[in-house]
Amino acid sequence: MNKTVLITGGAGFIGSHVVREFVTKYTDYRIVNLDALTYAGNLENLKDIEDRANYTFVKADIRDAALMMDIFRQYRPEGVIHLAAESHVDRSITNPTDFVMTNVIGTVNLLNAAKEVWKGEYVGKRFHHISTDEVYGALGDTGLFTEETRYDPHSPYSASKASSDHFVRAYHDTYGLPAVITNCSNNYGPNHFPEKLIPLCIHNILHNRPLPIYGDGKYTRDWLFVIDHAKAIDLVFHRGKDGDSYNIGGFNEWQNIDLVRELCRQMDEKLGRPVGTSEQLITFVKDRPGHDLRYAIDATKINQELGYRPSVTFEEGLGITIDWFLEHTEWLEHVTSGEYQQYYEKQYE
Ligand code: NAD
Ligand code: TYD
Repeated sequence: MNKTVLITGGAGFIGSHVVREFVTKYTDYRIVNLDALTYAGNLENLKDIEDRANYTFVKADIRDAALMMDIFRQYRPEGVIHLAAESHVDRSITNPTDFVMTNVIGTVNLLNAAKEVWKGEYVGKRFHHISTDEVYGALGDTGLFTEETRYDPHSPYSASKASSDHFVRAYHDTYGLPAVITNCSNNYGPNHFPEKLIPLCIHNILHNRPLPIYGDGKYTRDWLFVIDHAKAIDLVFHRGKDGDSYNIGGFNEWQNIDLVRELCRQMDEKLGRPVGTSEQLITFVKDRPGHDLRYAIDATKINQELGYRPSVTFEEGLGITIDWFLEHTEWLEHVTSGEYQQYYEKQYE
């Protein structure tokens, strides 16, 4: 094998697409997927590639500093793509400490292990930290987040991600660790866990359950198809500049209410239900505390410096996503049994 790349959080939503992209595209890399398999981690996401010769799964928790050191000593990765995280804003509001432990302490544990094992020999090494546009806080009705926008996180989730970004930058500036950071907008696509807006609404439409819209539904998010995020990560991992950060997005803003209406329209069409059936399920519910009004990414830097372009339009991506969920109802039933039911009741009922 040419090199070993350790991908953390590879059993989760985005991580599984990154693992697949790397395992299939770089058959000369050994891909080590490190994941604790929390409620959000699911090896079913990787069934199609789990037998590949260049793929290894390691069940481990990034909160365990000694274990991270052992794993780095054993596998000696030249590259790290770090996605493992607690990722849901609503859960961070109920349980902020979990987010500090995984997102901040877990990231520092990985940085320490990389620093220790690489011992200052940084040629050919790379620590790629996957972050979010939510670190920049909230926009008003106009403007876009650039790489220079000041960090201003509001939720415990975004505060923990901002903190981890600062640690990655600090390890680059202090120890010379060859690190890059990417800050991506909201993802959607196959394998998306149904606690997040789009898959939650797909699941509820299938079961004729209310579609909970927080507040007035005018909150705006910028949506990118998950496979296009994985491709951007590939580009930055291989061609990004050490010490730099790159925003990733597709200039695709939607108010939540408009997005859910579009989803209802496409679902009715695909399910052969009369137009307007699913929209009747829309229910306005209590707002999320500290709800950020608007996120919107300026992706000019990655477009111009690395030639990045998303491969699908939103309409196409949403269509692919809905089709995937309709063809994988078993996956949906598996992930919504058990813990999900308790979470759902506590959050919405
Ligand atoms: P996810 O919740 O679907 O998956 C997270 C994965 O990390 C799971 O497989 C889980 O088992 C694993 N994990 C959690 N805690 C762990 C621990 N302590 N040790 C080891 N593994 C652990 O998340 P996602 O949506 O795929 O997000 C992946 C990354 O991308 C996160 O860092 C997130 O902040 C970032 N991000 C997400 C989005 C988005 O829209 N989902 C957008 C931008 C950035
Ligand atoms: P979400 O998918 O949780 O992603 P994030 O909070 O990271 O942006 O939420 C997307 C938007 O949808 C956000 O403005 C909150 C809103 N939302 C609802 O209106 N209802 C819901 O049930 C959920 C989960 C989210």
